[in-house]
Amino acid sequence: MHLPKLIIFISGGGSNAKAIIEYAQQKQCYTIAAVVSNNAGSSLLPYCQALGIPTLVITNAQLNTLSFVHEIQAYSPQLIILAGFLRKIPLLLIQAFEGKILNIHPALLPKYGGKGMYGMYIHEAVIAAGEVQSGLTIHVVNAEYDEGAILHQATVEVVAGEEPNTLAAKILVLEHYYYCRIIEQYLKDL
Ligand code: GAR
Repeated sequence: MHLPKLIIFISGGGSNAKAIIEYAQQKQCYTIAAVVSNNAGSSLLPYCQALGIPTLVITNAQLNTLSFVHEIQAYSPQLIILAGFLRKIPLLLIQAFEGKILNIHPALLPKYGGKGMYGMYIHEAVIAAGEVQSGLTIHVVNAEYDEGAILHQATVEVVAGEEPNTLAAKILVLEHYYYCRIIEQYLKDL
């Protein structure tokens, strides 16, 4: 049986990528063809290597090249999964994988998205604005930052005295639950 292949892009600790890898192992619903990181120090890289998942460390300049697009195409992935990848995806890659790149964002888009809105900056802005709710958005990536079609949202309450790190942690739990499952569903609908 040929399982659909994913390539996961990360920049940080890669906890979402790890949740997706674990889900793929349990459910045998897709495989991870490679993990791409623009951060050589990510602790997920040795984890992937131990599992035999190919890893590619790239510079931000490489990301914008046609040869990188070709390198990704050589894996023939069904989807590219952005999991805490903090650089804008170049048009070259978006055009080569139209409708085949998904992203997870730790806020309820269309609010708190766009350039500069990542990680703790998002949670600080949500709390500063006095929002009573935040959450996650899983969406298709298009040429506009954080503006592609929304596939799924889930909410958490922002409680009195909430700190950015507690809000981030609550959302991350939901991210780990939903991203792997929404990917599985999206692959079925392709
Ligand atoms: C996640 O919360 C993800 O939603 C967010 O970065 C974190 C990465 O955590 N992404 C963005 O802010 C994208 N704009 P992880 O490396 O542990 O998966």
